[in-house]
Amino acid sequence: MVWKENVLESQTRSCRSSTEWVIPPPGSPPIAPTCPLEEASLNGSGTQLRPATGPTTWMSTMRIRTPVASLTWAPVRTNSALTCCPRGLREEVARFLSFYCKSPVPLQAENVVVLNGCASVFSALATVLCEVGEAFLIPAPYYGAITQHVCLYGNVRLVSVYLDSEVTGPDTRPFQLTVEKLEMALQGANSQGIKVKGLILINPQNPLGDIYSPAELQNFLEFAKRHELHVMVDEVYMLSVFEESVGYRSVLSLERLPDPQRTHVMWATSKDFGMSGLRFGTLYTENRDVATAVASLCRYHGLSGLVQHQMAQLLRDRDWINQVYLPENHARLKAAHTYVAGELRALGIPFLSRGAGFFIWADLRKYLPEGSFEEERRLWRRFLDHKVLVSFGKAFECKEPGWFRLVFSDKAHRLCLGMQRVRQVLEGKSQVAEDPPACQTQEPRDRHR
Ligand SMILES: Cc1ncc(COP(=O)(O)O)c(C=O)c1O
Repeated sequence: MVWKENVLESQTRSCRSSTEWVIPPPGSPPIAPTCPLEEASLNGSGTQLRPATGPTTWMSTMRIRTPVASLTWAPVRTNSALTCCPRGLREEVARFLSFYCKSPVPLQAENVVVLNGCASVFSALATVLCEVGEAFLIPAPYYGAITQHVCLYGNVRLVSVYLDSEVTGPDTRPFQLTVEKLEMALQGANSQGIKVKGLILINPQNPLGDIYSPAELQNFLEFAKRHELHVMVDEVYMLSVFEESVGYRSVLSLERLPDPQRTHVMWATSKDFGMSGLRFGTLYTENRDVATAVASLCRYHGLSGLVQHQMAQLLRDRDWINQVYLPENHARLKAAHTYVAGELRALGIPFLSRGAGFFIWADLRKYLPEGSFEEERRLWRRFLDHKVLVSFGKAFECKEPGWFRLVFSDKAHRLCLGMQRVRQVLEGKSQVAEDPPACQTQEPRDRHR
């Protein structure tokens, strides 16, 4: 079980690959190097190994416990195509996705492609689906790195479907995506001579933490079908929905996809298992031409045999995932969220968060007297000078200055310290909070019980 504990521990680290919440004060002890898969080979063996001590232990464990055959796995040629991983792993992924996406019928291994992370799936898909200069619609604010993902190889552009905080017309919540807004953005792109080839949906959404209802999903997919657009659905936070009441549904759970040949669904272990460093991403598409073309890029985006082997073991361990990992992970996310949300309320800061993902989308507009992006950047810089790293809205193409993304999936004492520093910045204090004893001892979960 030791390695599994480490997966839970590492959960808090994955988000910090993109957003480091707190920069530890000088002189604080270094964060112990851990790897999510330390002792991964324990899985199923029933043997108790000593606690992991770092990458060296992990590598020697892998060497001992990993079947030699997996070291020889490499891109393999089937009848007509190059595929990046053996059928066994794709079957495992298909079973995993069928179960967790709650698909009405079992998903097929033939429709699964595995590459090294969701970023690679974005790059590969965009390159395969578009000609140079063509575009995808994407509701903004969105996880900004996608701009690079689709541009890097394919030179594909993004057309933002700008959402705003004001609830107007038929909207029921801030930053709500509607078919009308999609239609307007598409028309706008067409009138500028931009060829739109598809739509990107992130569900649960980053940075909003929002989720789409099944009816909304259906409407967006119908919109895409009407305009013959491909839809890339990024469900990388699918298992990080910690409020059950929000009723998250994967697009693969829908009874009927309006246009299955143009619907492509992505998932990865980066977020839900806190393993962004391991690089494991999946694509599910019923379009065989697309699957074959994307899979052929595995020459450059494939997984090592070691990772394939370890991931197959992890994905099939349904008992541990259901009974140990997910309940604990959700409880920790919920506790951390409750703590940060409480602190923001105490500061009188409005925020959005619907119980999914690792972040809160906070409205700091009252701290920008002129409401400019320049001020937003200056405020972000002040946070940084106070050793707390949050992300400003401009990085997500948000059109309203003053929104910030705060990642809360971190250890209690770091969240506590981070919130103290946030408070100091917002109250205009000049000193930087160092780690006080109170922050090191109490877990937010305990305090909110
Ligand atoms: C919405 C979203 N998609 C994709 C990614 C990238 O995932 P990966 O690490 O698997 O490339 C991220 C990472 O932050 C993300 O937030």
